[in-house]
Amino acid sequence: MSERLLVTGGCGFIGSNFVRLVLQERPDWEVVNLDKLTYAGRLENLQDVADHPKYRFIRGDICDPEAVALAMRGCTLGVNFAAETHVDRSLLGASHFIDTDVKGVMVLLEEARRVGLRRFVQISTDEVYGSIEQGSFTEESVLNPRNPYAASKAGGDRMAYAYWATYGVPVIITRASNNYGPYQYPEKLIPLFITNALRDEPLPLYGDGRNVRDWLYVEDHCRALLFLLEQGQPGEVYNIAGGNERENLEVTRAVLALLGKPDSLIRFVADRPGHDRRYSLDTSKLQRLGWRPQVSFEEGLRRTVRWYVENSWWWQPIKDHDGEFRQYYQLQYGERLA
Ligand code: NAD
Ligand code: TYD
Repeated sequence: MSERLLVTGGCGFIGSNFVRLVLQERPDWEVVNLDKLTYAGRLENLQDVADHPKYRFIRGDICDPEAVALAMRGCTLGVNFAAETHVDRSLLGASHFIDTDVKGVMVLLEEARRVGLRRFVQISTDEVYGSIEQGSFTEESVLNPRNPYAASKAGGDRMAYAYWATYGVPVIITRASNNYGPYQYPEKLIPLFITNALRDEPLPLYGDGRNVRDWLYVEDHCRALLFLLEQGQPGEVYNIAGGNERENLEVTRAVLALLGKPDSLIRFVADRPGHDRRYSLDTSKLQRLGWRPQVSFEEGLRRTVRWYVENSWWWQPIKDHDGEFRQYYQLQYGERLA
């Protein structure tokens, strides 16, 4: 069936990988991408499909009802990736997070309700559950977000559910674990550490480096999202994870080994306040529907490292010439690395 899909936040890391996948896998679908182009949103992420006949980019803010109405006109499906996404930045100031991650979601849901979208996927996160020492969170677990990013995402997550319960808007809510892969902005752990190591600069590991994340290769995530967009049940929540729980120290050593760089680049620095110790998801609900991750952590990390090695045109200008990035880096790491 031919569809018109609105992707919001499609110029970011996961959104751009998703747009590319949909254009490949569903050649008769039209894709409209509404993105504000914040520091994390980059047109370069989709420059290879910019002229694709089925793709259209609109610059705009999901908090702006007029921009959303224009972008959603004629659409049958929607997937919302647009968000402020970095925990460390949310510790420096949370108001943008509330604007985009809560209010923006409400604006999208209002319009989805008005135009009668057939499916609206709200991309939430495993961080809404908070930290877990042992065992894994299921979709029924209590939400206990512990940082401003996670709390804002929980607001958007529950707002989506509220529009289903109240108005019957056919939402699907996904809670994924930490993603990694090509086009991830070099402020998150894996791309920051790859690009620092390539320049023989220190890798600032928070606390004792023993916090655990479950790593999901971005292409596996995008395939799960396309699957749920077509086969998920409205009103339901789905956990998505790679099944690759690793301590940050182990991930860091693996990055260094792939690059042939020494462990002496590792610096243990002051911890993130309120740093969640471990995230872990039970994904049996999604697995019962037939989805499995295809890319092992070792293979995904190899591909990711290779991508950053071969695509310095993409990340070097961010690190060298983007004043916003440099200012953030100084604020976040200046004292820690002094
Ligand atoms: P990202 O920071 O790389 O990209 C976010 C995109 O949203 C950017 O293109 C940005 O310009 C756009 N955007 C921000 N505010 C906007 C606004 N008000 N209006 C329109 N566009 C706006 O993020 P990402 O890592 O690709 O994450 C995408 C989604 O997945 C987010 O909702 C995030 O919470 C969720 N998520 C991410 C991860 C992860 O590991 N990266 C894990 C689980 C869930
Ligand atoms: P991050 O990529 O910011 O994702 P999230 O906070 O959403 O999990 O961080 C992943 C892990 O790496 C997390 O435990 C924090 C840690 N980390 C560091 O130790 N040093 C860093 O410079 C960064 C950015 C993260």
